[in-house]
Amino acid sequence: MLFFPRMLCGLLLLLSATGRAAESPKQLAARHLCFGCHAVDETRVGPGFQDVAERYANRKDAVPYLISSLRKGSSGKWGGSVAMPPEPVPEAELRIIAQWIMQQ
Ligand code: HEC
Repeated sequence: MLFFPRMLCGLLLLLSATGRAAESPKQLAARHLCFGCHAVDETRVGPGFQDVAERYANRKDAVPYLISSLRKGSSGKWGGSVAMPPEPVPEAELRIIAQWIMQQ
């Protein structure tokens, strides 16, 4: 039957499409390996995201600021000896992650 494999294929496509739409900001950050250097509630190689949210809480442009920080990389702002390399992540995804960080 030809009908069956095609149906299965459609189902798989549907599943992967909804799977992507349901990706949470945290999963997005995980996919871009941010948690290799960051945690939400403690300092690792880089600052904890709660500390980041706190530091920039009064900045109206916190989200665009963080996006540019991620695109250019960052060094010397958090007192560590390690720099963050520029993150090759699409801007739309950086925006989702930056908004999520500011809610921590
Ligand atoms: C190789 C380790 C590493 C990776 C991977 C990494 N970071 Fe960082 N990140 C750092 C370090 C180190 C700093 C502190 C830099 C400094 O002192 O200016 C930092 C700083 C930051 C800051 C604060 C920037 C500022 O201007 O104050 C944010 C927000 C951030 N990272 C988010 C992310 C996100 C989101 C990702 C994933 C797309 C990511 N980081 C991936 C190491 C990393």
